[in-house]
Amino acid sequence: MRVPMIAGNWKMNTTVSEAVELVTKMRHELDGIDNVDKVICPPFVSLAAVGELIKGSSIKLGAQNIYFEEKGAYTGEISPLMLAELCEFVIIGHSERRQYFNETGEIINKKIRAALKVGLKPILCIGERLEENEAGKTEEVVTEQLRSSLAGIDYSSGLIIAYEPIWAIGTGKAATGEQANETIGLIRHNIAKLYGNRIAQDVRILYGGSVTAANATEFISQPEIDGGLVGGASLKADQFLSIVRQTSEIRR
Ligand code: 13P
Repeated sequence: MRVPMIAGNWKMNTTVSEAVELVTKMRHELDGIDNVDKVICPPFVSLAAVGELIKGSSIKLGAQNIYFEEKGAYTGEISPLMLAELCEFVIIGHSERRQYFNETGEIINKKIRAALKVGLKPILCIGERLEENEAGKTEEVVTEQLRSSLAGIDYSSGLIIAYEPIWAIGTGKAATGEQANETIGLIRHNIAKLYGNRIAQDVRILYGGSVTAANATEFISQPEIDGGLVGGASLKADQFLSIVRQTSEIRR
């Protein structure tokens, strides 16, 4: 049985003091929910402070990006070694990074290697654009993204995948549970081709894109969907708690 995961991607939101305030509101209740992996991904500058707050709890911490070199003259970048001291997970290949920071499959591949090398667990994001979806190219696009991101990389049990259709991110227009389930099934099928069926059954694949407390159940109750990567709703304590609570109840 795959343990469900709800991860909050705070993106470029919250100052350090706001991050502390938000986690303080959620930490007690989140800690008490034991059948769901709860991951918070605040901005880099808040990782240390949030890490202190959740120390000793069952809440886990993730970063939103990584650079692929371990150290050196790369002004402004954050290395895998720095992150490995602070957190357990790292989001890699988010569509916003592909779109605004020109991250290619090759760069994402290097970042995944770099993360795995220091024991960080990558949350690899893939997903198609609206035009691609409308042209019936979803399967082709996510298959190619998986192939390039994971090319030459041995399977690691830390790997998590998030299917985030770009047209559903921040738009309030989520996919339907059935649509997301179908694409995630295809992704799992592709993981089986890459790494074999047993591994494909172990890999957790999350859905992301306008997940809220109002629609979470629709996704979590699908057999292929192992949880959510939540953006906007993860910045509201009551919404995030409700999504985690619903997941816990459905999977109990
Ligand atoms: P929203 O939940 O705000 O649509 O963002 C999804 C996302 O990009 C999570 O990584």
